[in-house]
Amino acid sequence: MRIDRFHVEHLRCLGRVELELAGRSAWLTGPNGAGKTSLLEALCLLGYGRSFRARPGQGLIQRGKTALEVVAHWRDGTGQGHVSGLRHGGEHWTARRDGEALSTLGGLAEGFPVLCFHPASSALAQGPAEERRRALDWLVFHLEPGFSSLARRYARALRQRNALLRSGAPDAEFEPWEQELGRCAHAMTRQRAAAAGYLEQALAAVWPRLCEDSPPPLGLRPGWRAEDSALEDLLLLNRSRDRELGYTTIGPHRADLQFGEAFGVPPEHWSRGQAKLVALALCLAQAEALRQARGLTSLLLFDDLGAELDAGHLGRLLHWLARAPYQCLVTGTGLPAACPAEAAHWPVFHVEQGKVRPLSAQLAAPVTAPDAAPPPGGQGV
Ligand SMILES: Nc1ncnc2c1ncn2[C@@H]1O[C@H](COP(=O)(O)OP(=O)(O)O)[C@@H](O)[C@H]1O
Ligand SMILES: [Mg+2]
Repeated sequence: MRIDRFHVEHLRCLGRVELELAGRSAWLTGPNGAGKTSLLEALCLLGYGRSFRARPGQGLIQRGKTALEVVAHWRDGTGQGHVSGLRHGGEHWTARRDGEALSTLGGLAEGFPVLCFHPASSALAQGPAEERRRALDWLVFHLEPGFSSLARRYARALRQRNALLRSGAPDAEFEPWEQELGRCAHAMTRQRAAAAGYLEQALAAVWPRLCEDSPPPLGLRPGWRAEDSALEDLLLLNRSRDRELGYTTIGPHRADLQFGEAFGVPPEHWSRGQAKLVALALCLAQAEALRQARGLTSLLLFDDLGAELDAGHLGRLLHWLARAPYQCLVTGTGLPAACPAEAAHWPVFHVEQGKVRPLSAQLAAPVTAPDAAPPPGGQGV
């Protein structure tokens, strides 16, 4: 998919901003505090229903205003135009796609895959399991239409079981919820395992574009000993311990993606810079896995890229991105010195004090060619 134009209103320092991209990749440059990251947050809201920095209740809405709004005009891989919009008042949100009101934010993310690599992304490599689980579930969500409702069913049953654990409820009350957890866990784990397989393949393909060494192996840890037992059986065995702790200690909500060695050392010994490279590679692998499996092309957002990577890796990344079929938005205080010629031709927008103005000459004709053709067997959007 490609964004032609987007409009942001009352998000952090952005008052009313309109960006004409005509389907192209672009640079967003400007001083610190200008509003560059806020522009990327706006697109993340459409792709995730949340920002990578905060929730709307946590300072996303411009001070003194009651709601923020983001509207994007975009085209899918077949070239068909769409309009997605989100309005958030801190407590309540409304979302629309092509004029239709949506009942879930997941509906907004459907067919609108957005990925963002930002200064906190190294947590993907070395942070808590939740980060990697979210990255994996992003892919599962876009691959498996039934995954969201399955995950919602699981979350509901988990809340019920945790409430029973804390209230000291009799054993009989646990059974239906543990059966439900078991059913959902089985299906969720099957879908996650398939996605983790795509992701590992894509990681191996992406890695040499960034690094000389071998890629880290990647595998799914389901969150319980799935190879030995059904979850419902283990929940029964663990019930008295879980009662003492007051929460459910095993299940897909504890799943993780586990990295093996890279750079000759296990993940806990990676430097911060190496962790960043792994996180970046995982982010690109998410995009590549989705493209290979479904022919869907993600929007790639890179926040402060020049500050995150050394010149060598940055040059290699930009060299690849400039030829890859993705639309990319890259923020920074300026253009990187090691910018390959193809990426140096991307339009530049200057952001200052919450206002945006195009710096480069007029945008050339809009990109009208559909995104890269889906691979044989892949589905178009
Ligand atoms: N709720 C808010 N209302 C108004 N301004 C805000 C709000 N939250 C953050 N800001 C301001 O918005 C700017 C955020 O800019 P940001 O997008 O992080 O800038 P950049 O990425 O260009 O450094 C900062 O100047 C910050 O002080
Ligand atoms: Mg920033």
